[in-house]
Amino acid sequence: MDSIRLRPLSRLFLALSLFFASVGSSFAQGTATDPSKAGVAPGATAAAAPAAAAGAPAGDAAAIAAGDALFKGNCAQCHAVNDVVVGPALGGITKRRPMSWIIPWVKNSSKLVASGDEYAVKLFNQYQKQQMPSFQLSDAEITSIVAYITSEEGKQGQKTDLNAKSGDQAAVDGTAAAAGDEAGSSKTMNVLLIVLVVVLIVLVVTLVIIANIMKDVLRGRKDIDGRDLEVIDQRFDFAKIYKSTAVRGIVGTVFVLAVLYETIQGAMGVGLQQGYQPTQPIAFSHKLHAGENQINCAYCHTSVYKSKSANIPSPNICMNCHSQIKTESPEIKKIYRAIERKQPIQWVRIHNLPDLAYFNHSQHTQVGGIECQTCHGPIQNMDVVYQYSALTMGWCINCHRETPLNTKGNGYYDNLVKLHDSENGAVPFTVSSNGGTECSKCHY
Ligand code: HEC
Ligand code: HEC
Ligand code: HEC
Ligand code: HEC
Ligand code: HEC
Ligand code: HEC
Repeated sequence: MDSIRLRPLSRLFLALSLFFASVGSSFAQGTATDPSKAGVAPGATAAAAPAAAAGAPAGDAAAIAAGDALFKGNCAQCHAVNDVVVGPALGGITKRRPMSWIIPWVKNSSKLVASGDEYAVKLFNQYQKQQMPSFQLSDAEITSIVAYITSEEGKQGQKTDLNAKSGDQAAVDGTAAAAGDEAGSSKTMNVLLIVLVVVLIVLVVTLVIIANIMKDVLRGRKDIDGRDLEVIDQRFDFAKIYKSTAVRGIVGTVFVLAVLYETIQGAMGVGLQQGYQPTQPIAFSHKLHAGENQINCAYCHTSVYKSKSANIPSPNICMNCHSQIKTESPEIKKIYRAIERKQPIQWVRIHNLPDLAYFNHSQHTQVGGIECQTCHGPIQNMDVVYQYSALTMGWCINCHRETPLNTKGNGYYDNLVKLHDSENGAVPFTVSSNGGTECSKCHY
C-alpha cells in the first residue's frame, strides 16, 4: 500500500472532518444534557412529572394531546391555565374540585348553579354572573381536558393557551419570557443544523477523496482488463440524471404540489388579519392603563355599551389625567402637540370588518353581556394591541351557535323560551335559536 500518498489537500480535509466531527458531537451532548439551553423551562419538566405519575389515564400523553386540542377548540377563548381571561385560571382545578363536580359543570354549568351548589353559585357571582356555555362533551373528553390542564400547570409566562385558534400566531401572543425561550431554543437548533451540514459536507468530500485514491491505486495494477478500467474511469453523468423521466416526474410533481399548497394557503388567508399589530403613533399601553391602573374600558371607549361602534378616545379624555400625570414625557408631549395643532391623533385601526357585515357592540356587550376579552383577548395585558380573533364569518356563527341567550329577567323572551323548550328542551336556547345565524342579521 505504499503507493498511497495522501496529497496535502486531502490531509487538510481529513483533519478538518475530524475536528468538526468532535466539535459536533460535544455540542450535541452539551445541548442534550442541559435542558435550560434547549429552551425547556425547568418548571415544565417538574410540573409534567407529577402529572405523569398521578395516575394512568391522567398522565397519558395521548389523552393530554386530545385534551390540548379540545381545550383550544372549546375553552381557550375564555380560559387559560395560569391566567384569568374571561373565566378563572384553570390550573389547580383538580385540587379545588373533584372530577365528579367538574364533569357536570362543563356539561351544564347553569344547571349546577340553579341547583344551588354552594361553590358554583359563589363562582358564578364572582364572575359577574357570566354564564359559561354548556358543552356536549363525553366524560372521557372532559377528563382528557383536565389531564391537559394538569400537564400545563405552573408554566408561568407561557400564554400559548390564550392562542385559541391560532397556533401559528404564537409569536405575537407569547410574553417576553416565552418569546425569549423560543428564540433561544431555535437559535441552538440553527447552530446545531449548521454544524451538521458542515460535518456532512466534510464527510462527502472525504469520501470522494478516498474514492479517488482507491481509483489511483487500482489504475496502477496490471491485472485489470479494459472493461474494469471503463468502470473505474466512469464519470458522474449529470446529463443522464437530468434527462431521466423518473427524476423529472418527481421534481415536477413536488413543484406543482408546493405551488398548489401555497396558493390555497394564500387564498384562505385573503383578508384575514389575525395577529395584526401595527405600531401606533403614541406608545399608548393598555397594560399600563387598563391593566395596572385598572381604568375601565368604557372610561375611554365611551360608546361601547351604547352604540354600534366602540369609539377611540379623543385627546381631551387623555387630558383628564395627563394634564397632571407625566407631563414631561415625550410620548405625552405628542398629545399636547395634537391638541395645539387641532389635529386628531392618527391611531392605526386594527379591527376592521368588511362593509358587507354588520356588527354592533352594544348588542353584544350590553344586551348579550359578553366581556370584551372574549372577542379581543387579554387587552389588559397588551402593551401594543393586536387582533386576537379571526373576525371571520365562521367565528361569528360558531359563537352564535354555542352561546346561550341571556334571557333571564327579560320579559321579551318569556314566550320564545317557552315555545323553544316545549319543542326541544334538551337543546339550550342559543343565539342561533333566536335567528342569530340568519344571513340578513349580519349582512346589509
Ligand atoms: C364563553 C366563555 C367560557 C368558555 C368557552 C368556557 N368557560 Fe369555563 N368558565 C367561564 C366562566 C365565566 C366561569 C366562572 C363561573 C361562571 O361565571 O359561570 C367558568 C368556570 C369554569 C370552571 C370552574 C373554575 C374554578 O376555578 O372553579 C371550570 C372547571 C371551567 N370553567 C371549565 C371549562 C372548560 C373545560 C371549558 C371548555 C370545554 C370551558 N370552561 C369553557 C367561561 C367559559
Ligand atoms: C386610557 C384610555 C383607554 C382605556 C382605559 C382602554 N382603551 Fe382601548 N384603546 C385606547 C386607545 C387610545 C386606542 C387606540 C390605540 C391602540 O390601538 O392602542 C385603543 C384601542 C383599542 C382597541 C383596538 C381598536 C382598533 O383599532 O381596532 C381595542 C380592541 C381596545 N382598545 C379595547 C379595550 C378594552 C377591552 C379595554 C378595557 C380592558 C380598553 N380598550 C381600555 C384607549 C383606551
Ligand atoms: C384615568 C387617567 C388616565 C387617562 C385617562 C389616560 N392616562 Fe395615560 N397614564 C396614566 C397613568 C397613571 C400613567 C402611568 C404614569 C407613570 O408611569 O407614572 C399613564 C402613562 C401613560 C403613558 C406612558 C408615559 C411614559 O412616558 O411613561 C402614555 C404614552 C400615556 N399614558 C398615554 C395616554 C393616552 C394617549 C391617553 C388617552 C387615550 C391616556 N394616556 C389617558 C393615566 C391616564
Ligand atoms: C362579540 C365580540 C366583541 C365583543 C364582546 C367586543 N368587541 Fe370590540 N370589536 C369586535 C369586532 C368584530 C370589531 C370590528 C368592528 C368593525 O370593524 O366594524 C370590534 C372593534 C372594536 C374597536 C375598534 C373600533 C370599532 O368599533 O370598530 C374597539 C375600540 C373595540 N372593539 C373595543 C371593545 C371594548 C372596549 C369591548 C368591551 C366593552 C368590546 N370591544 C367588546 C368584536 C367585539
Ligand atoms: C363570543 C360570542 C359572539 C361572537 C364572537 C359574536 N357574537 Fe353576535 N351575538 C352574540 C350573542 C350572545 C348575541 C345575543 C345578544 C342578545 O340579544 O342577548 C349576539 C347577537 C348578534 C346579533 C343580533 C341577532 C339577533 O337575533 O337579533 C347580530 C346581528 C350579531 N350578533 C352579529 C355578529 C357578528 C357580525 C359577529 C362577528 C363579527 C358576531 N356577532 C360575533 C354572541 C357573539
Ligand atoms: C353572525 C353574523 C353572520 C351571519 C349570520 C352570516 N354572515 Fe356572512 N359574513 C359575516 C362576516 C363578519 C363576514 C366577513 C368575514 C370576512 O371578512 O372574513 C361575512 C362574509 C360573507 C361573505 C363574503 C365572503 C368573502 O370572503 O368576502 C358572503 C358571501 C357571506 N358572508 C354570505 C353569507 C350568507 C349566504 C349567509 C346566510 C346563510 C351569511 N353570510 C350569514 C357574518 C355573518
